[in-house]
Amino acid sequence: MVVDNKGIISYIPVLKEDLMIFKIKPSEGGIPDFKAGQFLTIGLHVPSEGKIVRRAYSIASPPEQKSVFELLVRWVKKPVPGRLTTELFNRREQDEILWVKPTGAFTIDEKKHDGTPDDRRMVLIGGGTGLAPFISYALHLKSIGSKREVVILHGASYVDELSYRELLTDLENESLDRGKDKWNFRYRASVSRPQEWFNRSWNGQKGRVESFLRPKLGTDKSPLEELVGESITPENTIFYVCGWQGTVDGALDYLIPKGFVTERHKRKDGSYGVKFESYG
Ligand SMILES: Cc1cc2nc3c(=O)[nH]c(=O)nc-3n(C[C@H](O)[C@H](O)[C@H](O)COP(=O)(O)OP(=O)(O)OC[C@H]3O[C@@H](n4cnc5c(N)ncnc54)[C@H](O)[C@@H]3O)c2cc1C
Ligand SMILES: NC(=O)c1ccc[n+]([C@@H]2O[C@H](COP(=O)([O-])OP(=O)(O)OC[C@H]3O[C@@H](n4cnc5c(N)ncnc54)[C@H](OP(=O)(O)O)[C@@H]3O)[C@@H](O)[C@H]2O)c1
Repeated sequence: MVVDNKGIISYIPVLKEDLMIFKIKPSEGGIPDFKAGQFLTIGLHVPSEGKIVRRAYSIASPPEQKSVFELLVRWVKKPVPGRLTTELFNRREQDEILWVKPTGAFTIDEKKHDGTPDDRRMVLIGGGTGLAPFISYALHLKSIGSKREVVILHGASYVDELSYRELLTDLENESLDRGKDKWNFRYRASVSRPQEWFNRSWNGQKGRVESFLRPKLGTDKSPLEELVGESITPENTIFYVCGWQGTVDGALDYLIPKGFVTERHKRKDGSYGVKFESYG
């Protein structure tokens, strides 16, 4: 049975008309324990439906953040307005909202199939709002003092949809300042509609986020391999991908020929090198 808890929408950083961060504060009892990468189900009464509509949202805040849950949400407008998001985007700060305790398996695997610590580089590929779980991953890993190498690759259609760009840039700068032996973090973004006038300032990677895995013209090295300074193999890297199914498929197109297998189709010994959560 679903157990709804009450909360307050405490703050709404607006990124653009149809992309916002919602901070939700439990009305009582505080934030329960959860794992980075899990999702929160939120509920609102939708008058046209005559009932409470509930939907899942990846939690962007880390488990150590004990005052609010943070969600990165796209207002679904097409082909018809989404039921929950249309209601949510018409709510104001201090309005009440329902939430169901976090759950989900898209979490960081600390151990490999054989029980030994997984110290492979983590490459986190997020398409659009699919970045959300990786904000939680990165902040969690930093807060526990993890020494693992973490690379976040984020893709969006427009520069103003590169959510958390400042935070992620700060995390990378901190890594450069303190040294990789203390905090080993890199962040790169890609804009998939570079020809549009709105994106004219963009001088970084162009194309969908999986283009980071494609060898550059005339070389056998991808932009990701150039960034990390070595060839990517299932032995040295694990990939986590969140986004449209097309983003997952696009990443797998490059990874499968390199010998990577997904968690869903793991090898006989239980090993794998790609975990994903997809939508659409
Ligand atoms: C584990 C998980 C994590 C998620 N995390 C996030 C997140 O971090 N951020 C985020 O923004 N979203 C996330 N989602 C997606 C989210 O749960 C919702 O699915 C999304 O916000 C749409 O909800 P909605 O009620 O507004 O749309 P719905 O009303 O459910 O509509 C869904 C889609 O169907 C279309 N549709 C509806 N009715 C019709 C119809 N009659 N004919 C044709 N098309 C129709 C809508 O236009 C829309 O494209 C996540 C989903 C899952 C499963
Ligand atoms: N875990 C989940 O299930 C989950 C998590 C987050 C969001 N969602 C839901 O996903 C929906 C849209 O997400 P969004 O707004 O974040 O994405 P978006 O902004 O529409 O797209 C993000 C990036 O993905 C690319 N893209 C779009 N469609 C693609 C496809 N079919 N294959 C490969 N790449 C594609 C876009 O490229 P172009 O510029 O070329 O279009 C863009 O670079 C929302 O309804 C949201 O609710 C689900």
